[in-house]
Amino acid sequence: MLEISHVAKEYPSPRGPLTVLSGVSLALKRGDSAAIMGPSGAGKSTLLYIAGGLEPPTAGVVTLDGTNPYQLAEKQLAAFRNQKIGFIFQDHCLLPQCSVLENVLIPTLVAHDAADAPRRARELLDQVGLADRLDHRPAELSGGEKQRVALARALIRRPHLLLCDEPTGNLDEASAERVADLLMELHAGQQTMLIVVTHSAALAARFPLRYELRHANLNPAGA
Ligand SMILES: Nc1ncnc2c1ncn2[C@@H]1O[C@H](COP(=O)(O)OP(=O)(O)OP(=O)(O)O)[C@@H](O)[C@H]1O
Ligand SMILES: [Mg+2]
Repeated sequence: MLEISHVAKEYPSPRGPLTVLSGVSLALKRGDSAAIMGPSGAGKSTLLYIAGGLEPPTAGVVTLDGTNPYQLAEKQLAAFRNQKIGFIFQDHCLLPQCSVLENVLIPTLVAHDAADAPRRARELLDQVGLADRLDHRPAELSGGEKQRVALARALIRRPHLLLCDEPTGNLDEASAERVADLLMELHAGQQTMLIVVTHSAALAARFPLRYELRHANLNPAGA
């Protein structure tokens, strides 16, 4: 279960504090999936970072499976994120010097239960249609292929929470739809909690829960 309660976020700026989020609440349980839309600069990525244990809120509380990540020491927090959370970043963040297979295996390097990781990595890469690209470097992949590697990497540790920041941004319509299909399929199969930030109304429409972030507030879309 993910609970985001009354979260606020301010960034300091030379002209005084910049309020990006104010009193944002969101709760998801196992199997839930939500889309978050909103204008550029509204704070969508910031909210995902806060949900993912990557950026402490200025006020409010985040708990995932009963633990507040921001109360953990740095080392425990890193382990918690690694074990519980899969993140697909807006710019996918693949390591350029590593192969496709190595990129997917990165989250398992710090885990102690990773004996079957190479097998699972190959299985996931097969599921995302990249079984014949294992040895490619990111520079040798198309945009959609990179997004699919990022998806496989986010799922390798069977996260409870999968956070995707515009997973189909920068893709043509057909590739975006393929990545979205995969995302929905993998989410349904693994019963994770899923939050997707997107500018695509078509992608958002596929989610049972839809929110809009605007003026630092999160509201049901269309409300
Ligand atoms: N580290 C930071 N320090 C100061 N201001 C920041 C920082 N990160 C983000 N901001 C500001 O916070 C606001 C929200 O940024 P955020 O990246 O969350 O927007 P977004 O909704 O994801 O936008 P986009 O759709 O363009 O990705 C922006 O105005 C941005 O300039
Ligand atoms: Mg963003």
